[in-house]
Amino acid sequence: MASALFIAVLLTLASSGALASDPGPLQDFCVADNASAVLVNGFICKNPMKVDVNDFFFSGLNKPGNTNNRVGSNVTTVNVNQIGGLNTLGISLVRIDYAPYGQNPPHTHPRATEILTVIEGTLHVGFVTSNPQNRLIFQSPQRGIANAVFGSNPKIDDGVLAKAFQVDKKVIDYLQSQFWEDNNN
Ligand SMILES: *[C@@H]1O[C@H](CO)[C@@H](O)[C@H](O)[C@H]1NC(C)=O
Ligand SMILES: *[C@@H]1O[C@H](CO)[C@@H](O)[C@H](O)[C@H]1NC(C)=O
Repeated sequence: MASALFIAVLLTLASSGALASDPGPLQDFCVADNASAVLVNGFICKNPMKVDVNDFFFSGLNKPGNTNNRVGSNVTTVNVNQIGGLNTLGISLVRIDYAPYGQNPPHTHPRATEILTVIEGTLHVGFVTSNPQNRLIFQSPQRGIANAVFGSNPKIDDGVLAKAFQVDKKVIDYLQSQFWEDNNN
C-alpha cells in the first residue's frame, strides 16, 4: 500500500471587492522558445512558422520512474519543458510512481487544480484548505514538510520557521540539515 500526502494551498487576497483571474489566452498556442533568455508570462513564443509536430508531442509516460530514493516516489513531469506547446496554456501532467509506503512530500499548487487518477494500488491522499480554515481533508496523517520549506537555498531564517511551526530552533536546524530529496513534485 502506498501512501501520499498532498497539500493544496489556495491563496486568497482580501481586498475591497476586487476580483482577479487569469485572462484567457490571446493566441491558440505559444510554443516555448527555449533558446530565448526572455521570460514573460511563461516562455516567449517561438515563431509560429517554425512550430512543428514535435512541439506538441511527448513519449515516455509508459516508463516507470525509479523509486529507490528517500521519499520512495518518482515524478515524471510532462510540462512546458517536455512539450513546448504547453507554454501559457496552464496545463501539465505527471506520472508518479510509488514504492510501497512511498510518499510524495507535501507541496502546493498555487492557483492550480489537480486531478489524480490511480492506475494501480492504493493511495492515501489529503489536502489542507487555505486560510483561515487550514482544515485537513481526507484521511492522511500530517507528516513531513516540503523540501521547499526546509530545503530552500538560501535557507529560510530558522527563527522565522521556529515561530511558524511552533517548535524549538534546534528542530528547524535539524530539519534544514537533512538531505531533501527532490522528486520533482
Ligand atoms: C528546446 O527546444 C528544442 C526544439 O523544440 C528541443 O529539441 C530541445 O530538447 C529543447 N531543449 C530543452 C532544454 O528543453
Ligand atoms: C526517477 O526515475 C528516473 C528514471 O528511472 C531516474 O533517472 C531519476 O534519477 C529518478 N529520480 C529520482 C529522484 O529518484
